[in-house]
Amino acid sequence: MEAVTRRHPSIVVLTGAGISRESGLATFRDPDGIWARVRVEDVATPGAFARDPARVHAFYNARRAQLRDPAVAPNAAHLALARFERAWPGGFLLVTQNVDDLHARAGSRRLVHMHGELGKARCGHCGHVAPWQEDLSATTACPSCGRAGGMRPHVVWFGEMPLAMDEIGAALEGCDLFVAIGTSGQVHPAAGFVAEVAGRARTVELNLEPGAMSRAFDERIEGPASETVPALLEALLRDAG
Ligand code: APR
Repeated sequence: MEAVTRRHPSIVVLTGAGISRESGLATFRDPDGIWARVRVEDVATPGAFARDPARVHAFYNARRAQLRDPAVAPNAAHLALARFERAWPGGFLLVTQNVDDLHARAGSRRLVHMHGELGKARCGHCGHVAPWQEDLSATTACPSCGRAGGMRPHVVWFGEMPLAMDEIGAALEGCDLFVAIGTSGQVHPAAGFVAEVAGRARTVELNLEPGAMSRAFDERIEGPASETVPALLEALLRDAG
């Protein structure tokens, strides 16, 4: 039996808000970030939604509407990841913490949104998840059960379980290379992925500046994602021959 040699490593890429910064979307914890303007407790927890649904809807309606701005488009980093996924012969999974649609618009398909998506809404009554581009409000009726008052952004709030964790765990289990792009490494479980694979996978962090978990990475590449991501992916394809 011919020994199975894994000539092409299996890769997991984790992205955060930094990859969408050059597409015109604010990050969360940069000085001009979202959490510098509004408090998590007021718009991104189940308690906030129970207390003041109109305020939470307004926050996500504005962010959802921003995705329809023609100036907000996938940048070179998103496009390079989509191209790489099609060219790479080994295993590949793109895990994003982002709720924007820029990876999908760039053409990424082997993609999971662990914090949900602005472009989807979920019914609190029946659990139905529907694509959603318009504003949501407390009177929005569920397209499935017809009841109003329960529709919410299909976004994971603080204190809620992230999505696709089984698929992500399986991909991390078998990966040979873990690349984190544009994330501050301050929110778990995503921030813990590097520690989960350390020692059995090569780990690389691409960021403008060191993140909270930088010391856990084997390698750090500093610079804007639109430059560092295409360069790294081209080098990986070149090395794979
Ligand atoms: N290129 C690369 N990295 C960048 C760029 C850029 N052009 N611009 C900013 N960054 C980096 C910042 O240095 C920072 O480390 O992106 C990171 C953004 O960090 P955060 O704003 O904390 O965003 P993120 O890590 O995605 O937050 C994780 O926290 O609020 C929750 O659910 C929300 O998914 C989010 C999670």
